Amino acid sequence: ENAALLTAIIDNAIDGIITIDERGNIESINPSACKLFGYAPDEVVGKNVSSLMPPPDKQHHDEYINRYQQTGRAHIIGIGREVKGLRKDGTVFPFRLGVSEVQYSGRKIYTGFIHDLSREKEAEERLKEYA
Ligand code: HEM
Repeated sequence: ENAALLTAIIDNAIDGIITIDERGNIESINPSACKLFGYAPDEVVGKNVSSLMPPPDKQHHDEYINRYQQTGRAHIIGIGREVKGLRKDGTVFPFRLGVSEVQYSGRKIYTGFIHDLSREKEAEERLKEYA
């Protein structure tokens, strides 16, 4: 069945996938994203996505979403950006964030795709030491 196939794909994706409602509250998180951020699903579902980022974005993320919903001007949707995530243990890691807007059963949700860049960034730093 179609829904089962989609679930299997999302559950086995290498990248993290998180969906939020129009207010920024987390509705779903796949196993890869759980592993990256160090949480079990029930610890983050229902929380604001801003709990997964360090300052200063943490304090401004609601505004970012509101701004987009009022102006229609996207800064990440359809573009992507390198941002920082905050793990449960307090450590910070870099990732490539992609966001798309999805119309789902009569309402709007946002889907975030999280591609970990920790290893690439570490390698970059090591190379700089030799430069
Ligand atoms: C906008 C950071 C995760 C959905 C933004 C902006 C920043 C940002 C900096 C606004 C950029 C600007 O106005 O110049 C972060 C960080 C994250 C994160 C650091 C780390 C966890 C997510 C996730 C989702 C999401 C997981 C969706 C599931 C959005 C939406 C907008 C936005 C809908 C407004 C639309 C846009 O500007 O394109 N975020 N974000 N964010 N973010 Fe996030």
